[in-house]
Amino acid sequence: MNHTLITGASSGIGKAIAWECAKRGMNLILVSLPGQELEAVARDLEVRYGIKTRYFETDLTKPDSPIHLFNETQSAGLDVNILINNAGVAGASYFDESSIEYIDERIQLNIRALVVLTRLYLPVLCKHETSHILNVSSLAAFFFIPYKSVYSASKAFVLSFSRSLSGEVKHRGVRISVVFPNGVQTNSSTGLRIKSHGRIGRWTQISADKVARCAVDGMLKNRFYIIPGFASHLLLFLRMILPVPVQQRLISREFVKEVSATCTHIRTA
Ligand SMILES: NC(=O)c1ccc[n+]([C@@H]2O[C@H](COP(=O)([O-])OP(=O)(O)OC[C@H]3O[C@@H](n4cnc5c(N)ncnc54)[C@H](OP(=O)(O)O)[C@@H]3O)[C@@H](O)[C@H]2O)c1
Repeated sequence: MNHTLITGASSGIGKAIAWECAKRGMNLILVSLPGQELEAVARDLEVRYGIKTRYFETDLTKPDSPIHLFNETQSAGLDVNILINNAGVAGASYFDESSIEYIDERIQLNIRALVVLTRLYLPVLCKHETSHILNVSSLAAFFFIPYKSVYSASKAFVLSFSRSLSGEVKHRGVRISVVFPNGVQTNSSTGLRIKSHGRIGRWTQISADKVARCAVDGMLKNRFYIIPGFASHLLLFLRMILPVPVQQRLISREFVKEVSATCTHIRTA
């Protein structure tokens, strides 16, 4: 029986993607950190949509966690035909004050877990006539963002990795898609970040449900780039026409607001 595996499915965009997939009758394997009521999400979806669900609670930043997850799904006989790498952490901070743990978490979850899960599940996906990988990046992948240097670089990595790999696996029936959301109110921290951008934040934000709908639609239509929302398209257009130094000045001015709003202290220079 085919299953769609979704990481970070207990809340935010991942949970919205789980609902969107369940509506379309897909059986689900939901993954998130322990103690986040993942079981309740799984049961809710089963009752409402009559699908089969399994859930696994694991911290994907731990080096062995992706392989344990893979082994568990394999020994449970769960066949995966869609892999959705959604789990990720954002945040803004002064780089020289960021702890090594803060940096590692972004690299381990946003990059390593995504790459290792893709590597592990690829042979399983290749056994299907057609299968999908949907990676959740961010609009930040297209910009160089001060105070979010590790995050924006991690999301640019997701773009580059996915595009490169898609050329390698397309002929084996595996279609790769990447979704690039911008400003989704998913938890108190993203709420605070969006608020710090004032009118621009309010205007460019988009709901998790809309991102999920666009992402699943785009994936099933074999689109590589999935960019939900008009505002994001406009920002990408501005990126094409504005000279890089102007872009950098504007971005820097915008994101210093975010780091000031979310860090415990404000620097004056
Ligand atoms: N929100 C935005 O504005 C925005 C914009 C662009 C891109 N994105 C991307 O969209 C994705 C989802 O973001 P979101 O805003 O929906 O985040 P969220 O509400 O914080 O949800 C993140 C999900 O990932 C899980 N997760 C976090 N750390 C994990 C770990 N170490 N191991 C396993 N699972 C872990 C969380 O599980 P728990 O609930 O158990 O903690 C949760 O289910 C991320 O990749 C993010 O970078 C978000």
